[in-house]
Amino acid sequence: MVIFLGFCKLVIQPIFLSMEIVSHWHYQKAGFHAAPCDKYKISNVSSHCIQFRLPMPKPQAHHPGTITIIQPPKINSTAFNDDDDCKGSNKKKKKKEKKKEKKKSNSNATPTTSTPTDILRLMDGLGLPIPPDIYASLIKESSTTGDATQATQLLAHINRSGLPLSSALLNRILLMYVSCGLIHTARHMFDKMNVLNKNSISWAIMLAAYMDNGFYEEAIFLFVQMMELHSTIMLELPAWIFICVLKACVHTMNLTLGKQVHGWLLKVGYATNLFLSCYLISFYGKFRCLDDADFVFDQTSERNTVIWTAKMVNKCQGEYMHEALVAFTEMGRAGVKRNEFTYSSVLRACGRMKDHGRCGRLIHASTIKLGLESDIYVQCGLVDMYGKCGLLVEARRVFETVSDTNKTNIVCWNAMLTGYIRHGLYIEAIKFLYQMKAAGIQPQESLLNELRIACGSTTLENKTDGMQI
Ligand SMILES: *[C@@H]1O[C@H](CO)[C@@H](O)[C@H](O)[C@H]1NC(C)=O
Ligand SMILES: *[C@@H]1O[C@H](CO)[C@@H](O)[C@H](O)[C@H]1NC(C)=O
Ligand SMILES: *[C@@H]1O[C@H](CO)[C@@H](O)[C@H](O)[C@H]1NC(C)=O
Ligand SMILES: *[C@@H]1O[C@H](CO)[C@@H](O)[C@H](O)[C@H]1NC(C)=O
Ligand SMILES: *[C@@H]1O[C@H](CO)[C@@H](O)[C@H](O)[C@H]1NC(C)=O
Ligand SMILES: *[C@@H]1O[C@H](CO)[C@@H](O)[C@H](O)[C@H]1NC(C)=O
Repeated sequence: MVIFLGFCKLVIQPIFLSMEIVSHWHYQKAGFHAAPCDKYKISNVSSHCIQFRLPMPKPQAHHPGTITIIQPPKINSTAFNDDDDCKGSNKKKKKKEKKKEKKKSNSNATPTTSTPTDILRLMDGLGLPIPPDIYASLIKESSTTGDATQATQLLAHINRSGLPLSSALLNRILLMYVSCGLIHTARHMFDKMNVLNKNSISWAIMLAAYMDNGFYEEAIFLFVQMMELHSTIMLELPAWIFICVLKACVHTMNLTLGKQVHGWLLKVGYATNLFLSCYLISFYGKFRCLDDADFVFDQTSERNTVIWTAKMVNKCQGEYMHEALVAFTEMGRAGVKRNEFTYSSVLRACGRMKDHGRCGRLIHASTIKLGLESDIYVQCGLVDMYGKCGLLVEARRVFETVSDTNKTNIVCWNAMLTGYIRHGLYIEAIKFLYQMKAAGIQPQESLLNELRIACGSTTLENKTDGMQI
């Protein structure tokens, strides 16, 4: 998946386009289809659906007016979960880039390594005025390298030149600041921007920057401010902005605002957007507002795998296992393709049906028919389902089929351990703990406590301490 970013000759659309594509990419790649039932949250990123990141591409040789192809950043759950970490990694990146630049300029002083500052100095030395398009490409350069010092120097130069700043140029500067991690400077400039200069892109950049850095409250305030200012002049906002806001609502547990956003979406006719519908279903599920989630589901005309799976996940989370199974059946009847996430959700439901694994076995058979039995999500779902049903031999059999490369999946190990503990097989559980230790997997602390209590002795405690778990 590539995104197209045209900075120089192309003005508004390309930035917009890139944002849309980035968010869609995140959807598909890390979409909430990866969040079947809370136990199977492989990472918080996937469950929270969309993660928007501003493009931080590698420096490349640019020609004004050309379209650059940039690889979207890889999803890194550790970086996403921790704001400080996120900033830290950005700083690290920047340092690395600086080092690289230094190395380059030391080894061979070719003109390609010249920084925006070098170019400015050269032009100043020659007494040449700098035309706006050169500034534009220098801004772009600084955005891609993410060098805050360069960015600041460049802006001071632009300021001195007295060049009138168009909204397109202002947006590029905003993007540059944000790409360099200068969020507060960006906000300062954003606040000083004339209302007429501030278009939907400016708002989008600022919102995305806040979301990207985990400033959810700020994102919400900004959104509210935007809606108040532009209630009459309708801004053309891409769907992902609303997803960002809804996501911020989840982070700050603000259901009220989320509902307001939903109401607003209905009013402007955005409700037909598939991505938004999907996210809304997920959003309401997180707040356990299953009626609202069902309302969105019912309003959706084009129901795909992700929409159906989101519904099933909600039912599972609300412990409405029978309804999850009904949804699974209806989904099949509607001819919608079921994927690994659908199956792992339905398996979770089956594990809680108290039917001695009857439903689970049927689902197991159909995963084999579909060739999904080697999928790690499905396998973990099967281990969990058989474990819950007390069919521990079957659970273990599936667990043993997990390939070595996928054996690092903590969820699978904990599901197996849970099965042993909940069915009183403490000796097996302790044996399994040793295996976990050997595999370098950390068992869930609550499970260890459960085992300690169940065994009612200190011997286990000492044993596990000895194991340094
Ligand atoms: C998800 O986030 C919670 C806190 O928000 C954290 O405790 C947990 O470790 C995270 N899970 C993963 C898989 O990163
Ligand atoms: C994610 O980022 C952290 C630090 O930010 C890094 O240590 C880790 O290797 C990264 N993981 C992947 C899969 O890129
Ligand atoms: C630009 O110049 C004005 C004065 O002309 C100054 O107040 C302002 O701080 C300058 N901005 C930057 C970013 O250098
Ligand atoms: C939700 O956000 C709105 C807008 O910022 C705010 O007025 C309200 O107090 C928030 N509600 C909660 C429960 O945080
Ligand atoms: C591991 O799990 C992934 C994702 O479910 C799957 O695509 C892959 O085939 C599995 N690897 C092996 C070696 O079975
Ligand atoms: C287990 O360790 C505790 C201290 O952590 C100790 O008091 C106790 O005697 C030990 N029990 C056995 C059976 O070794």
